[in-house]
Amino acid sequence: MSIEPHGGILIDRQLLGEVRQKAIEEAAALPRIILDAWEVSDLELIANGAFSPLEGFMNKADYNSVINNMRLSNGTVWTIPIVLGVTPYEAEQLTLGERAGLYSEDETLLGLIEVEEIYDGDKSLEAEKVYRTTEEAHPGVKRVYQRDAKLLGGKISLINRTEPKLFPEMYLNPVETRRIFEEKGWKRIVAFQTRNPIHRAHEYLQKCAMEICDGLFLNPLVGETKDDDIPVPVRVECYNILLEKYFPPDRAFMSAFPAAMRYAGPREAVFHAIVRKNYGATHFIVGRDHAGVGSYYGTYDAQLIFDNFRPGELGITPLFFEHTFYCKVCGGMGSAKSCPHDKEHHVFLSGTMVREMLSSGETPPEEFTRREIAQVLMNYYRKSS
Ligand code: ADX
Repeated sequence: MSIEPHGGILIDRQLLGEVRQKAIEEAAALPRIILDAWEVSDLELIANGAFSPLEGFMNKADYNSVINNMRLSNGTVWTIPIVLGVTPYEAEQLTLGERAGLYSEDETLLGLIEVEEIYDGDKSLEAEKVYRTTEEAHPGVKRVYQRDAKLLGGKISLINRTEPKLFPEMYLNPVETRRIFEEKGWKRIVAFQTRNPIHRAHEYLQKCAMEICDGLFLNPLVGETKDDDIPVPVRVECYNILLEKYFPPDRAFMSAFPAAMRYAGPREAVFHAIVRKNYGATHFIVGRDHAGVGSYYGTYDAQLIFDNFRPGELGITPLFFEHTFYCKVCGGMGSAKSCPHDKEHHVFLSGTMVREMLSSGETPPEEFTRREIAQVLMNYYRKSS
C-alpha cells in the first residue's frame, strides 16, 4: 500500500470532459487574473495534488498560520505560503463569492478561482519568518517584495495545463508517479530534490539511501530558479547520463518537480519533503544547507527544523546527511561521521569555485564530478561565455 498523501487525500482539481467545457464557457464572462510563471506552476501543482491538501491559493487564516506556526489553520504541517498576488485593478473587478478566470501572461485560459477572500499580506513578516531575513538580496525575499500587494484566496480548478516545452515525458502527476512505484513493487522510496547537476556528493547520498530503500526517486526541481543556476536542459542531460551509466535502471526513476525554487532553506526542506510524500515517496534526503542560498542558513538548519514536528505529522521520513566529500586517504566518499582524516585530504569545491573552473575551461577533479558530467557543463559554459 502506498504512503498516505499529506492531509489524507490526494487532491485533484483538474477539470475534464463536460465539466471542463462548461468552465471554459463560464470563464468568458468572468473577470480575468493574470498569473506569472511562478503562480502558474503553483496553480498546476495544487490542481494535480502535489500540494495536497491545498485546494487553492491560501486565504488569510492559512497564510498567517503558515507564516507564524508552520501549519495550516487546521493544524496540518505546511511551511511555505502558497499565495496569488493580484493588482489593484484585478482586485477591483472581483466579487466575493463569485468566480474569476485565471490566465497565463500570454492570455491562455488556465483555470478558475472561487473568490473567497482578498487580503493584504505582510511582506516583511513573511520574509522574516519564512526566509529568516528581510534582505532583498535573498532571491526568495526579492520575489515576496515584488509580488502584488493584495492576495486572493480561494479554491481553484484547472482547465488547461501549460504544455512543457522541453522533456514533456518528465512531467508526471502524483497519481502517475504513485502508480509507477506500485508497478515497480517499491515500498520504500527515497526522493531526492535537486536544482543542480549531480555531483559525486549527491550521488553518494543517493546511493547510501538506495542501500536501505527499494528505489530512488530522482525529482529535480525544474521551475523558476535564479539566473546563475544551471538551466534545466543542461541539468537533464547530466541526469540522463548519470542514470544511464551509473544507476541500475530498475532501481532509479526520474520525473520533474515543476515548482519554483524559493531558496527558503529549512522551511523549504519541510515543504520539499511533504510534496515528495504526495508523489509517493516514503523517505526524503536532506543534506547540507538544503535549498539554501548564500550564507543565510546554518549548514544543518534544514535538518534541525524537522525537530519541530512529530514523525507522524509529516508521514515521510527525512534521511539526514552530513556534509560529504571525497577523501584522498580513504579513497572514497565520506563525511565527518565516517572519515577520520584532516581537511587537507578532502576534495571539496564551492559552487563559485566550480563555476570559475568551468568557465575558464578547466576540468573539475573527477573526485568532485564525473568526467561525463564535467564535459556537459564545460560545453555549456563555453557556449554561454
Ligand atoms: S538544493 O537547493 O536543491 O538543496 P542541491 O541540488 O545542491 O541544492 O542539493 C540537493 C540535495 O543534496 C540537498 O538535500 C542538499 O542538502 C544535498 N547536498 C548537496 N551537496 C551536498 C554535500 N556536499 N554534502 C551533503 N549534502 C549535500
